[in-house]
Amino acid sequence: MKRIAVATTGGDAPGMNAAIRSVVRYGVHKNLEVIGVFRGWWGLINEELKLLDHRSVSGIINQGGTILKTARCQEFFTDEGHQRAFKTIKKNSIDGLIVIGGNGSFTAAHKFGNKYNFPCIGIAASIDNDINGIDVTIGSDSAINTALCAIDNIRDTATSLERIFVVEVMGRDSGYIALEVALAGGCEEAIIPEKKFDLESVCHEIVEGNLRGKASWIIVVAEGAGRAEDIAKKITEMTSLETRAAVLGHIQRGGRPTAFSRHLALNLGREAVDCLLRGEKDKAVGSSFGKIVVLDFETAIKKKELEVDKLYQLIKILT
Ligand code: F6P
Repeated sequence: MKRIAVATTGGDAPGMNAAIRSVVRYGVHKNLEVIGVFRGWWGLINEELKLLDHRSVSGIINQGGTILKTARCQEFFTDEGHQRAFKTIKKNSIDGLIVIGGNGSFTAAHKFGNKYNFPCIGIAASIDNDINGIDVTIGSDSAINTALCAIDNIRDTATSLERIFVVEVMGRDSGYIALEVALAGGCEEAIIPEKKFDLESVCHEIVEGNLRGKASWIIVVAEGAGRAEDIAKKITEMTSLETRAAVLGHIQRGGRPTAFSRHLALNLGREAVDCLLRGEKDKAVGSSFGKIVVLDFETAIKKKELEVDKLYQLIKILT
């Protein structure tokens, strides 16, 4: 193995830059040439590459986003896209590819790598934390902290004006961010795709609480479970209490990575390079129970079952 490539694909996540830095500097330390692929799979198809050295990744460890840019590339799902990407790989004598991304990126890398028997290693990075067999992905802790800051701010105005707030957070099909944020933010309710939800009984609780003098509520809703605007409207209809909606949206994907996301990224970057040097292929690297783990892509791309009951119960008990 002489020359490897690194790409970020799909949604960006805070800490991706730290992972790039680790792959490049550890790779150079191991006497590898490291090529940066720009705009994810699109860059592989269109040969948008650049040789990265130690200095190319200076000053990025604290930055959100990705210096390599990223994209959601439909062309990579076609045979022609695959062929063009593999042509780039052959032409540039690339011996292995490290893909920093989430579930969709791993699925694509798994398919591509197996088609050409080409070594692809994934580094788990996504705010959604939806990689099976991996406890925590790069960026999820950062996104939770960003959402938490926003919820703390909303709490101030909710308490002052004695209002109910429905706050929508990201997570695609997963309620992970919603649950984590609801617990840490002392929120009264979490609506997540993994759990059946009865709005009528929540409205009942709200009205009862109101009669006891509890005037403000924060309900966190995961984007995969419903729209904040619709839920807020229904609550107003059912309770006659003033309810506002707030959608946190893409601010959750940006911003400085937390120390946790950076540490994880730096360790996973090294592990991914070591995987390639050991001759591994079709694997994902991530963290499970505080340890670095290497999983088959096939396992990592299966639907992650989130254990929600204990956490949800705690949110309700502590309300
Ligand atoms: O995968 C990360 C994520 O932020 C999801 O939480 C969200 O559903 C999706 O990406 C949004 O993607 P886009 O920015 O392409 O609309």
